[in-house]
Amino acid sequence: MTESPGAAHSPAQDGPRNRGLFITLEGIEGAGKSTIARRVCEWLAGRSIRATLTREPGGTPLAERVRQIVLERGEEPLSPVTETLLMFAARGIHIGSLIRPALARGEWIVCDRFTDATRAYQGGGRGIDPAWIESLAAQVHGDLQPDCTLLLDLPVPMGLARARSRKAAVTDRFEAEAQAFFERVRAAYLELAQREPQRIHLIDASRPLEAVERQVIAALERLAQGEGR
Ligand code: TMP
Repeated sequence: MTESPGAAHSPAQDGPRNRGLFITLEGIEGAGKSTIARRVCEWLAGRSIRATLTREPGGTPLAERVRQIVLERGEEPLSPVTETLLMFAARGIHIGSLIRPALARGEWIVCDRFTDATRAYQGGGRGIDPAWIESLAAQVHGDLQPDCTLLLDLPVPMGLARARSRKAAVTDRFEAEAQAFFERVRAAYLELAQREPQRIHLIDASRPLEAVERQVIAALERLAQGEGR
């Protein structure tokens, strides 16, 4: 792969049938992203579409090391600005080493979180300037953006209860945040969905899993149809 991480990557340039599609999953803790991500991969496999399931922060050995730094509850505090830079550092590695090469090979990417998470968590949750986040996004990934984002939305108390019932103890810096933080994150996600309804599919994740899966599959069917697949 000779492209630099910031190089342009648009469907218009590559032709929709020559490159894979980039699907991202977003939502607050407890929204059920991991289960839905696996379901999306099964759906793609059923259509013989090659796909890679990955996540942020992380997704490559080096980016996973950055994940550890940014998530672990260590002795040293991380400022919101440093946290934002680390998210983009991990993202830059992930895009250059994994996402762009896979898309160029024609594979689809299913990514558990991407820049919308920075907009929601660091922008909405921590109060980082959205314009600065957009300038970092432009530098780190140029015009590469998800073709489809599945935003799994549910009330914060429900999400937190689900997340906490799965894990006995709080294990990372975000899980340790108060409900008000996640309310701001959720509000930021909902605002993004309103602003970009074509890309961001709002999924009601408070419903039973089968109903959530049906909404997700319907969104994927529409996406695949639009691509002539
Ligand atoms: P995960 O629990 O979904 O794997 O995500 C790890 C945490 O990282 C989650 O609490 C959200 C947070 N995060 C951000 O704050 N900003 C980001 O840009 C990303 C990708 C994740």
